[in-house]
Amino acid sequence: MQTVKTLQMLRTALAQLRSDGATIALVPTMGALHEGHLTLVRRARAAADHVVASIFVNPKQFGVNEDLYAYPRQLAEDAAMLEAEGCALLWAPTVEAMYPQGFATNISVAGVSEGLCSAARPGHFDGVATVVCKLFNQVAPDMAFFGEKDFQQLAVIRAMARDLDLTRPHVDNIIGVPTVREADGLALSSRNRYLTPEQRAAAAALPRAMQAAVHAIKGGAPVADTLARLQAQVLGAGFASIDYAELADANSLAPLATLGEHPARLLVAARIGGTRLIDNLPVGSALK
Ligand code: PAF
Repeated sequence: MQTVKTLQMLRTALAQLRSDGATIALVPTMGALHEGHLTLVRRARAAADHVVASIFVNPKQFGVNEDLYAYPRQLAEDAAMLEAEGCALLWAPTVEAMYPQGFATNISVAGVSEGLCSAARPGHFDGVATVVCKLFNQVAPDMAFFGEKDFQQLAVIRAMARDLDLTRPHVDNIIGVPTVREADGLALSSRNRYLTPEQRAAAAALPRAMQAAVHAIKGGAPVADTLARLQAQVLGAGFASIDYAELADANSLAPLATLGEHPARLLVAARIGGTRLIDNLPVGSALK
């Protein structure tokens, strides 16, 4: 596997990969890879001839008080993991290569970007949409793979690809992959490494309470009461605060007060110590 850090090198490497008409799948990441990312690479390998992964800790998607500088960086370790999974090329641009002096464009997706994570992270999804659009244009993949753990992010990227008529990849070839979890249900995240052993043990209460809430809502329990119980359980387990706990339409992400005929999603963001964890689960739709 080759690692390239300039656009010139990327273009040369991509031309070689594509010379025989081979298909390319892109797996965009910020590094600090775990089994969730490697699952994306495996899915990508099964679907395309070559997998290109990117590692770029994107400053535009971090707020001023967020963990941009603390975010784990381990390029050599990540590259070894990607190579072992059969990845063909690693695109690891510098900040200067991605955002040269004078860079002035911002992609802002209304609708699905609003609510949920945007309240605590203003501007975050503009940063995500802008960098992912650049990655799509730089690599021009046939398909791209993202984890459903960042469910709102996936919706934003799909809306951007649809609204801007992107063709590489086409919106239908932006593939969401189900969240990979630890044995106790905690969703894998590069930020889990910030947790102390006590916080890590307590964090399993989040998916547990969410599973119970999904079960209750599917069984006809009132949504507001169920969300209130979920919040009490999570706070009671040692979480410091909850940014949101919502039932939303799985496509529009509009909040739902009742389970309707369209698929719904339960989405939660909660803080334990200084770490903000997000998670989501499918809820299905009400039986007619
Ligand atoms: O999910 C991530 O790791 C990032 O938000 C992404 C999609 C690579 C954009 O920086």
